[in-house]
Amino acid sequence: MNAFTYHNPVKVVFGNGTFAQAGQEAAKLGKRAIIVSYNDGSVTGTLAKLKEMLDAAGVASMQFLEVVPNPPVEMIERGVEQAKAFGADLVIGVGGGSAMDAAKALAAGVLYTHGDLWNMVYACHSNVTTQPPEKSLPTLLIPTLPATGSEMNNCSVLSSTTRGKKSYIWAECLYAKTSILDPELTYTLPPFQTACGSIDAISHVLEIYVNGQDESDLLHAWQLALMRTIVENLPVVLKDPKNVHARTELMWCATCAINGWASPGDAWTPIHQVGHVLTSHHGINHGSSLAIMMPPWMDFFKARKPALYAAFATKVMGVNPEGKTELEIAGEGIKAFKAFIKACGVPTTLSEKGITEADIPAIVEGVKSVSFNADGVLSCNPPVTSEEIAEILKAAL
Ligand code: NZQ
Ligand code: ZN
Repeated sequence: MNAFTYHNPVKVVFGNGTFAQAGQEAAKLGKRAIIVSYNDGSVTGTLAKLKEMLDAAGVASMQFLEVVPNPPVEMIERGVEQAKAFGADLVIGVGGGSAMDAAKALAAGVLYTHGDLWNMVYACHSNVTTQPPEKSLPTLLIPTLPATGSEMNNCSVLSSTTRGKKSYIWAECLYAKTSILDPELTYTLPPFQTACGSIDAISHVLEIYVNGQDESDLLHAWQLALMRTIVENLPVVLKDPKNVHARTELMWCATCAINGWASPGDAWTPIHQVGHVLTSHHGINHGSSLAIMMPPWMDFFKARKPALYAAFATKVMGVNPEGKTELEIAGEGIKAFKAFIKACGVPTTLSEKGITEADIPAIVEGVKSVSFNADGVLSCNPPVTSEEIAEILKAAL
């Protein structure tokens, strides 16, 4: 196992009904809260209850409801101005990754002293001039969509509409002070968002599993168990959206997939780097971009680590290994994974999203401009070249 330093300071309050503790948890962190969320109704009921709880706990609040998926830095700038004008001393993010990431960026943006907020973002890996934030207002996060794990990690993913780019902020100060994970808040999720969230959570573990360190018995067992639990519970929720057990499993899996436990000593997320460009160039939502890229990526690289891919096939996808070589088992597992994604209603090809072969060079350039390192490759184990990315994109058509 690789050497690592692990530190995760987030207080997690988990379980059905725990949303009722939001007022008292907020009161421990501040007196004037800015609530960051969407404005289109999906969580309106939750926001109304939150306001009542904050009032009862003596926390003044205002709402900033401008969050859209793949939150743009230009929107964060407006939120920062409003938070400053209100004198906010606490930021509460309510929603999926976009709302929580916006809350975290806004909380850091209020105290940011290095100019343009885009300076916080790792927008060019080959020449890093990023000035990560050092301080942040305290944040309370209330996820309503199990997916990104933003509730327990130190990352915030932002886009820039003017720059046509998407990348991330990574800073110690971005950890939430407290996150309330109440699976009941996820019952209203439509099937597509539920499925995209679960596929995203699988990708956070799978990326590390196939692209990270090769030898780590405990980590691989833990990663396989996380992915298997999602594969078992997602179809249950799609049939029965209020299934308490399955919703609860999905919520904790999504958090544990990317809070550091499944990936100590590993950091490469090459499939996400390509996915971000599919989002910023072609508007494909985050989960779909990964759903499209994972199977061809795995297929392309499976021969490098057949035993690892075969274990994914048998332990996650339930492939029968009898009488087959490791590579055959691996190939069957990838096919089964793609079929699983499709059955959950998420796209598995670029052509479904209107992308053709002619678009591939620009996508590769997009990945190069943001995510290639100073050696001119995508960091990974082993590193990935632009030619390989182009091949995988072709296979994804
Ligand atoms: O717009 P409506 O129809 O209201 O739908 C909302 C929202 O727009 C809906 N939603 C959320 N909770 C709901 C609900 N609908 C009904 N009931 C509920 N309880 O879901 C739509 C999508 O929300 P969004 O927050 O965009 O989804 P997600 O959680 O998938 O977040 C994606 C964002 O997180 C970033 C992604 O890049 C993307 O920007 N990520 C953040 C990461 C992190 N902080 O560590 C890591 C991830 O890899 C990811 O990159
Ligand atoms: Zn993701």
